[in-house]
Amino acid sequence: MTSNDKKMLRVLRGESINPPPVWLMRQAGRYLPEYRELRKKSKSFLDFCYTPEMAIEATLQPLRRYGFDAAIMFSDILVIPDALGQDVSFVVGEGPKLEPIRTKEALSGLSMDGLHDHLAPVYEVLKGLHRELPKETALIGFAGAPWTLACYMVEGKGTRDFQEPRSWAYTDPEGFGALIDLLVKSLISYLSRQIESGAEIIQLFDSWAGVLSPDQFRKWVIDPNRRVVEALKKAHPAIPIIGFPRGAGLLYAEFARETKVDAVSVDQTVPVDWIRSELQPICAVQGNIDNLALLAGGDALEREIDVAMDALASGPYIVNLGHGILQTTPPEHVDALLRRVAGAR
Ligand code: CP3
Repeated sequence: MTSNDKKMLRVLRGESINPPPVWLMRQAGRYLPEYRELRKKSKSFLDFCYTPEMAIEATLQPLRRYGFDAAIMFSDILVIPDALGQDVSFVVGEGPKLEPIRTKEALSGLSMDGLHDHLAPVYEVLKGLHRELPKETALIGFAGAPWTLACYMVEGKGTRDFQEPRSWAYTDPEGFGALIDLLVKSLISYLSRQIESGAEIIQLFDSWAGVLSPDQFRKWVIDPNRRVVEALKKAHPAIPIIGFPRGAGLLYAEFARETKVDAVSVDQTVPVDWIRSELQPICAVQGNIDNLALLAGGDALEREIDVAMDALASGPYIVNLGHGILQTTPPEHVDALLRRVAGAR
């Protein structure tokens, strides 16, 4: 098999494959007992991400169990604020904590100078995986998109609706725009290095795209994603890019057209008939099985899979969830999903 024959890459070039390739967001992580065991060896989550042997092992764990069509390197989107010099930590049971940045003046505390030195372990993870992965498995690199990174950097933690960055973006678009510009520039540099280290596909996670009004969405989601995609395509035209503007609703179509991503990853709120008629003609689609249906398992899960496969598998389609696997998901439910996809038709 040449690398171009990998199922993921064929779909991302526009081919329809039945049964389609499958991988799952957060396929590595705490729902797996072997991950929880490995994780105990590192006291901080960021240290774990920056120790290549740990991150490589965490990436490979779900592949040994399930043999997915893609491996997503084990890391986190918040390594970017960390590498830019912001204080980032993960508090057990609470999630990420950052020293909030809320003014243009505070941006002077961030710098791209140490970016690649700081992120060198991530590039080592990709090089190691490039050597170790089975030949049919595609290697996905990733980053948070500028808006979602800004959400955490400005708010300082996860919230339901990210009022601080949304307010800053209205009251001082120039200052907030300077943060977005810094992130666009950092991501182009970071993702180019990921590609040079062996990533065959890039996914951009814009997990909080859905909290914005349409005009703000165009300004802070579509435009920055478009700039990142354009620069990466110029330097690495053969590398496909998957966009994930979670919660974009009707704006998924405009996102796909304007950013020129090769695929969009779609959340569970979007009707599959609409995905088929409005998105699949523009690009490949990935998604959108409800992660709560995976948690529930049984008939509920099988129904969700059948509905998605019936609507989407005749076009370029990658089976995935609408958002990441939840921590309490029984690992057997992932086996059930894979069996249903393989046997469904
Ligand atoms: O298998 C994979 O998908 C690769 C690993 C991966 C992680 N985070 C590991 C992780 C990926 C792709 C991410 C992306 C990520 N991180 C996103 C975008 C996708 C999404 O879920 O919307 C976001 C918003 C983050 C930020 C983040 N990291 C949060 C909010 C949290 C805490 C919430 C939680 O689930 O605990 C993290 C921590 C994190 N990232 C863990 C893992 C496995 C858990 C920490 C631990 O194991 O101690």
